[in-house]
Amino acid sequence: MGSRKAGLSGRRVLLVVGAGVAAYKALELARLFRRRGAGVRGVLTPAATQFVTPLSLAALTGEEVFSELFSLTRESRIGHIELSREADLVVVAPATADLLAKMANGLCDDLASTLLLATDKRILVAPAMNLRMWAHPATRRNVERLARDGVSFVGPDAGAMACGEWGLGRMAEPSAIFEAAAKLLEGDTTLPPPEGAMSAARPLAGRRAIVTAGPTHEPIDPVRVIANRSSGRQGYAIAAALAQAGAEVTLVSGPTALESPAGVGIVRVETARQMQAAVEAALPADIFVGAAAVADWRPAAEAGHKMKRGGAKEATLTLVVNPDILAGIGTRKKGRPKVVVGFAAETEKLLEHGRRKLVAKGCNLILANDVGAASGVFGGARNRVRAISADGVEEWPEATKDEVAMRLVARIVELLERAP
Ligand code: PMT
Repeated sequence: MGSRKAGLSGRRVLLVVGAGVAAYKALELARLFRRRGAGVRGVLTPAATQFVTPLSLAALTGEEVFSELFSLTRESRIGHIELSREADLVVVAPATADLLAKMANGLCDDLASTLLLATDKRILVAPAMNLRMWAHPATRRNVERLARDGVSFVGPDAGAMACGEWGLGRMAEPSAIFEAAAKLLEGDTTLPPPEGAMSAARPLAGRRAIVTAGPTHEPIDPVRVIANRSSGRQGYAIAAALAQAGAEVTLVSGPTALESPAGVGIVRVETARQMQAAVEAALPADIFVGAAAVADWRPAAEAGHKMKRGGAKEATLTLVVNPDILAGIGTRKKGRPKVVVGFAAETEKLLEHGRRKLVAKGCNLILANDVGAASGVFGGARNRVRAISADGVEEWPEATKDEVAMRLVARIVELLERAP
């Protein structure tokens, strides 16, 4: 924000405040406009008055604040059409899912939505809502339609939400909204680009991702295998979240009882070597996530027939090491995906082992999870991970595997933005 020295003296902003927890940030936004010399007219949706009072917005803007459509006193002084035209720019912050839906469909049942339909000025919206509401196909349709209509977007950002979840849907910071608004007021219509809205809803559109999930089964004989307790839930959740964010996803899955997530291409395999071959065949990709619990060893030879116990009291199984799929991808000299994410499933020294795997397997990020029997992570619905990267260690709170997946996707988006 500090970079924007030019004043906005004489310019007028109509600030429409929707009903969201982020509404309090609209006060800071109003303050930023006023400090740079712009006049601000505040309009609150009726429900927004539950979050900020007209009085506080009026105190900051120095102007009367409106929220009622049918107010005779206001209509006699300044008609709602005039209110919609007097501004140089209309800023909607926070723009709730409801307000976006009304705008996209031309509905106008209160003052705010009526002004938005009646205005002939550029509109900048700063969406703010729960991550699932933002990701919902209905919201995506509305956002895409508004973007096509020439509405500009700033945000939303990824981060912690008032509802306790984590993901994409937080309103952009007031300084970022101010910057975007100032650019539009200065006639720079290229920023923020309307496409920004679509890429924010589907930040991985145009990206290819490969995810491994589930256990591998390493045959001993035609009826016996070496397996592990992975259910595939964490990897499937990641594949689904990546697809929801717009990526083209290939899920390479070991044997699981799970259905293929919507919009994800699935390749079902049994052994580590088959998994490796399927991963190699799915390249090139921008993103690789190794969530599978790949068997480190396999029997040196698979018996052609069911092995008989006979009279033996003991049997010895000779094991040979399996290929390390993740390390093979992470350390590729050519065609390495830009972002490579691995897991570290540990029962002790979580961080120490996690850090070692980050380096040894050439990863950008390792999600280290405690898989001791008490954690219930293998096969369970929840997970608690430490995200280890060159930036350090982040402790993610215990959450459902879906939530961990969504948080991971937001982190992958950040890593891709920084990737050379
Ligand atoms: O499937 P769920 O029931 O939902 O459980 C989730 C999970 C516990 C399986 C998952 O969160 C997890 O930790 N997956 C990785 C399991 C694992 O094999 O961890 P590891 O520390 O042994 O391996 C480290 C990394 O190398 C992993 O990304 C693994 O996929 C990869 N690897 C390991 C060995 C090998 N031969 N090839 C590999 O690619």
